[in-house]
Amino acid sequence: MIDDLIPAEIYERYLTPPIYAPWAEALAALAEPKPGDRVLDVACGTGAALRAVAPGIHPSGVAVGIDTDTAMLGVARAIRSDLDWREGSVTDLPFEDEAFSLILCQHGVPFFRDKAAALFEMHRVLMPGGRAVFGIWDSLDTSPGHHAVFTELGDLVGADKARPVAWLLSDTGEIHELLLGAGFSEITNSTETKISHFESARRFVELFIAGASTLTRETLAQIDDSVRESFIERVAVRLSDYDGKDGLAIPMRCHLIRAERA
Ligand SMILES: C[S@@+](CC[C@H](N)C(=O)[O-])C[C@H]1O[C@@H](n2cnc3c(N)ncnc32)[C@H](O)[C@@H]1O
Repeated sequence: MIDDLIPAEIYERYLTPPIYAPWAEALAALAEPKPGDRVLDVACGTGAALRAVAPGIHPSGVAVGIDTDTAMLGVARAIRSDLDWREGSVTDLPFEDEAFSLILCQHGVPFFRDKAAALFEMHRVLMPGGRAVFGIWDSLDTSPGHHAVFTELGDLVGADKARPVAWLLSDTGEIHELLLGAGFSEITNSTETKISHFESARRFVELFIAGASTLTRETLAQIDDSVRESFIERVAVRLSDYDGKDGLAIPMRCHLIRAERA
């Protein structure tokens, strides 16, 4: 069934509802969108976060999503052609200074090579009094499903080649330092856990291998076809405590951070 879909479609159809959409709703609540807000979703992917705030800024607001991944943007456009989707990198945002009143960045910051430059750019395009909200995964061991996948991958290819990039910015002290360095103030953080549900552990691993965002998928592509079945089986065994008659229920823990431009 997933063989007919491109990875970005798998991400949107099968990974977004159990993983990304619930956090997008939490981020939208933290952002407190208001009619007339000018919103930029950085590293928007297929657009879950921007879609979550869009009703709140209606009818006079502006909603723009930007990402480097053409395929993710294609899916975003197919779902909400009325929102403005742009291809580009956070390190060189094609917007005027102070163009936005609200910036969203859900599960993007850990992927940015130069995080200081990326946050500086976000601060530059935020107007004084504007706010930015970030969703960033806590440490990998607080997301046992993904922990199991990356532990098995490390056994297969070596821990240095099994880097779980999305989970490598879990220290809130480091995040606060980065935000302060970029000029943000009034930084607050809450850390919450939500449960993601999948049909089974096997199904979760298959979908994650096939539909994770590009960098993570490239890391998982080190799993050779000849060992894929046994790999999936070993991860499923690791997750047996979470896999019951109603399917797989895995906790995922995330920092929800809000910051302002003075
Ligand atoms: C895990 S996905 C999150 C997507 C979306 N925010 C969501 O919550 O579903 C990470 C996204 O970061 C994007 N990304 C990575 N580096 C980027 C950069 N330098 N500028 C913009 N987007 C970037 C990727 O293309 C990918 O879509």
